[in-house]
Amino acid sequence: MNLDKVNKLQHMGLGPVWVRRHVVAAGIAASTGSGAASDQALDTGSAIGADAVAARASNDQQDTALAAMDWDVLEASIRECTRCGLCEGRKHSVPGVGDRAARWLFVGEGPGRNEDLQGEPFVGPAGKLLDNMLRALDLARGKDTYIANIVKCRPVGTDGRDRPPTPDEVDACMPYLRRQIALIQPQVIIALGKTAAVSLLGLPADTALAGLRGEPRDFNGIPLVITYHPAYLLRQPTDKAKTWRDLCLAKHIIDGA
Ligand code: URA
Repeated sequence: MNLDKVNKLQHMGLGPVWVRRHVVAAGIAASTGSGAASDQALDTGSAIGADAVAARASNDQQDTALAAMDWDVLEASIRECTRCGLCEGRKHSVPGVGDRAARWLFVGEGPGRNEDLQGEPFVGPAGKLLDNMLRALDLARGKDTYIANIVKCRPVGTDGRDRPPTPDEVDACMPYLRRQIALIQPQVIIALGKTAAVSLLGLPADTALAGLRGEPRDFNGIPLVITYHPAYLLRQPTDKAKTWRDLCLAKHIIDGA
């Protein structure tokens, strides 16, 4: 393995697994981040938004207008959105960040506490690992990448902790992501974790992630690569190697485009 590659893997915290002893001795292994931030993993509680079903009927009427919005109108409508109950507790909605002509689109689940406070996706510990993953691919936030989420407002449980979005919350928010994808026209979409994967593929929420990885899928003609969520990787660092394989698959798609 050459030193450049060693450095890339170090960004994802894979170095200690793969770096040979003589490389470590050369002082390379100590030069990059470990991705070993404290684990602020998403809570998997199952609180349900109260009247999401009723809201869906009126949301359907807005979808035609939404599908024709430009970036500025789209972002403004995300910031003022009341399509589901998540708007009630938010400090900020989180439309997304990055290069609006990016080839790479990364899609997470939804904002957590830090993202709600700052209005930007992936700014907590999982975000640090995502930044390291980007660096391993010679990318960076805003450099040929766009980062978005399935839902734009923080799903928070009755216990005050982050939780996954309900199917109704996903349905209410998906038109925003669909419009973002249509505007960006990325060459590859990376689904970070199960919520992103099943929402983009229209599969039941209890579909296992493991069976979805490995082969590129399709989202409206765009290759969709499915991998683990960075928050999960903070809990299960041994799966970083599988994630690196998924990212290499995405890079292969980009390089062949
Ligand atoms: N987890 C996500 O899925 N998205 C974020 O923006 C932050 C954490």
